[in-house]
Amino acid sequence: MTNKKLIQALTACIAFTVTAAVQAQSTIKVGVLAPFSGPFADFGQQISNGIKVYMQQHGDTVAGKKIEVIYKDTTGPAPDVAKRLMQELVTRDRVQFIAGFGLTPNAMAVAPVATEAKVPTVIMNAATSIITAKSPYLARVSMTLPQVTAPMAEWAYKNGVRKVYTLVTDYGPGHDAEATFKKVFTKLGGQIVGEARVPLRNPEYAPYVQRVKDTGPEALFVFVPAGEAAVGIMKAYAERGLAQAGIKLIGTGDMTDDTVLQALGDTARGMVTTHHYSAAHDSPENKAYVQTYAEMHGTRLRPNFMSVGGYDGMAAIYEVAKLLNGNIDGDKAMAVLRGMKLNSPRGPIMIDPQTRDIVQNVYVRKVERVNGQLYNVEFDKFEMVQDPGKR
Ligand code: PHB
Repeated sequence: MTNKKLIQALTACIAFTVTAAVQAQSTIKVGVLAPFSGPFADFGQQISNGIKVYMQQHGDTVAGKKIEVIYKDTTGPAPDVAKRLMQELVTRDRVQFIAGFGLTPNAMAVAPVATEAKVPTVIMNAATSIITAKSPYLARVSMTLPQVTAPMAEWAYKNGVRKVYTLVTDYGPGHDAEATFKKVFTKLGGQIVGEARVPLRNPEYAPYVQRVKDTGPEALFVFVPAGEAAVGIMKAYAERGLAQAGIKLIGTGDMTDDTVLQALGDTARGMVTTHHYSAAHDSPENKAYVQTYAEMHGTRLRPNFMSVGGYDGMAAIYEVAKLLNGNIDGDKAMAVLRGMKLNSPRGPIMIDPQTRDIVQNVYVRKVERVNGQLYNVEFDKFEMVQDPGKR
C-alpha cells in the first residue's frame, strides 16, 4: 500500500469511528421484544402499532436525540428466546431502554437481565401481578389481572349473581384472575361452584364448557389471553347452548378484546367485562388516538388495549428522555418512572411509586352494536385502581 493509500484508509477509518460515536450519542435506542409471528403475532403488531402512533404524533426526536426502535420477534411464549434477544439488545445494540412483552413467561424470563444490566424495562402488556416485583428496573403501563378482575367480581355480586364457575388459561395471568375472582366474590358472599384451567397451547374448549353447563352456575367467569382463545370460548358457549341454559358469560376484557370482537359475532352481545381500555372510550385523547391509528394502520385492525400499552409505554420513555435531557441512566430513569402521571387514551394513569405498577380506572363495559359494529361500551368505572395482587 502506498503512503497516500494508507493515509486515505486511516482517514476513512477515523471518520467511520467518529461518525459511529456521534451517532451513538445522538440516538436513544429502544429495544422492543414482542411476538411478531406465530399464534400471538397480533400482540406484537398491536404493541408496535401503538408505538408508531405515538411517534407519529410526537416526532422521533427527544432532547435533541433521535429515538431508534429495534423490534425483535420472541415468536410466542418462549422465555429462552426472550432472554437471549434481551441480552443481545443490551450488549450488542447497547439499547438504553427495553420495552414490549405481550406474554408473561417472557417478561418473567428477562427480569434478571434487566437487573444485571440496570436497563429500564417498560412492560406494555404482560399482566401477571408478580412481574414487576422481579426486578427494580421493571415498570408496567398495561394492567394486572387482579386489578381488572376484582371489579368484575364486585360488579357480578352487586348485580345479583351468586354462583359462578371460573374458567382460565393455565398460566400466570389465569391463576391471578382465578384467585382474585374467588377471593373477592366469596368474601362478598358469592359461591364458586366449579373451576377449570385450560392449557395455553392448542386448547380444546368444548369439553370444559360442557362441564360448566352440566354444573349449572348462574355465570361463567372467563380469563383467556386476548385473541383466538376468545373466539374458541365464544363458539363453544354458543354451540353448547349455555345462554339458553341461563348461564351468563362474564370476564375480563381480554375476552372481548377489540382485535377479535367483530369475529365473536352476536353471541357476544350483552356480555359484560371489566378492563382498562376500549376503542370506544369517549375522550378527545382517545378519538385522536383511534383516528391516527386508522390513518396509519388502516381499519382492518382496530386499536386494542395492547396498542395503548405500546403508546403509553412510548410516552413514558419520551418523558424519561426529556427529563433526563437525553442522558439515560438506569437508576435515574426508574426514579422518573416512579410516580409518573400520564394522560392516556384510556384516561388518567399513574405508575405507583412503590411497586412501579400501573394505577388506572377500570371500566365496566357491555358489548353492543354501535353503527353496526360490536364495541365494548363503557357504562361504569372503578376509579384509579391499584394492583390488589400486591397488597
Ligand atoms: C400475559 O401473558 O400476561 C397476557 C397475555 C394476554 C392477555 C393478558 C395477559 O390478554
